[in-house]
Amino acid sequence: MVSPSAMNHNLFSITRNFRISGRFLSAEPYGNGHINDTYIAWWDCNGTRIRTLHQRINHQVFNDPSLIMDNISRVIRHLRRKLAAIPGADPDREALSLIPTWDGADFFRDPEGNYWRTYVFIENARTYDICETADQAREAARAFGRFQHLLTDLPGGPLHETIPFFHHTPRRFAALRGAIERDVCNRAAAAAADIDFALAREPLCAVVTDRLADGRLPYHTTHNDTKLNNVMLDCLTGRGVCVIDLDTVMSGSSLYDFGDLVRTCTRDAPEDQPDPDRDIFRLDLFRPLVEGYHETAGPFLQPAEIELLAISGRLITFTIGIRFLTDYLEGDTYFKTHRTNQNLDRARTQFQLISSMEQREKEMRDIVAATFAAGA
Ligand SMILES: Nc1ncnc2c1ncn2[C@@H]1O[C@H](COP(=O)(O)OP(=O)(O)O)[C@@H](O)[C@H]1O
Ligand SMILES: [Mg+2]
Repeated sequence: MVSPSAMNHNLFSITRNFRISGRFLSAEPYGNGHINDTYIAWWDCNGTRIRTLHQRINHQVFNDPSLIMDNISRVIRHLRRKLAAIPGADPDREALSLIPTWDGADFFRDPEGNYWRTYVFIENARTYDICETADQAREAARAFGRFQHLLTDLPGGPLHETIPFFHHTPRRFAALRGAIERDVCNRAAAAAADIDFALAREPLCAVVTDRLADGRLPYHTTHNDTKLNNVMLDCLTGRGVCVIDLDTVMSGSSLYDFGDLVRTCTRDAPEDQPDPDRDIFRLDLFRPLVEGYHETAGPFLQPAEIELLAISGRLITFTIGIRFLTDYLEGDTYFKTHRTNQNLDRARTQFQLISSMEQREKEMRDIVAATFAAGA
């Protein structure tokens, strides 16, 4: 029987469109992802219970899910082909596997227009929302570096740009300037110090985008949402198993991917509780991130990328921080809020992380230089 909580979508009728031979047992919501609706379904396959993972793609965020699915299936196909040729690698566990519909499509559209996809469930691995140990940091960075490395020879040209200018800091900065000038909610005065903080850091904005534009930095196939909870770690060994949540795979800079991992793994404070009296940057977790990334991304990173690794965390933290500040000034129209000033506090937390990282810049540069020199 379908559990009552899953009844808002009829998982029984949705899952039967996918090529799963077994008897449907039950389905329930799964995980705590923020973007898509994720469910698992249990099946009886000749006496063995197996589960599959089903996602309704959020088509508010991704307005053309078929392009997303095209990107995802190209990436998965390539990863699996590459992994199959690596001795000891396990493509079924180290890459996502899409289960097609009965007529061979990668997704199913239900009568209400929702897009659904189905993945093989990766057993004995899990995700973490908060980075607690150096091993978790190292393994996550290793997994994302390997993911990028395996995709360096993706055939068929660049992926669809499903969210144009996604990590384009100068555009985000221009949006902030516009919001300050319009000040539609009369909030600029309350955020004067935060606005000053952001405006003073304008020179940081174009560091990566300018270099991508004139060829000093290369484009890669990147993940673009490299949070710790988008990589599955083995439950027993803690080793990085599989990079998941491929909705934003596109062409981009490895620096935004590594930077977002730094931003999300090294912040020692809740997302919306700035604490100006504390250094909230965990340098002890930055080091294993660099080491893990070096292990797998070292072979393909160019000197110009290595040169900017130490500031990449600061750059994406700035990008996200100014998005929160912009949304606060515009009346909280993009990021969901549960209380007043939540977006301002989110911006302040990001800015505080930036200040902490600025103070540690020398140490961060030394860690990158020592790690990459040792392995060169
Ligand atoms: N193939 C899979 N096998 C096992 N668990 C998975 C798989 N894909 C996703 N998950 C779990 O579901 C959660 C949400 O999936 P994710 O694709 O990250 O969705 P969202 O975009 O909503 O974050 C993940 O954090 C992970 O725990
Ligand atoms: Mg996710």
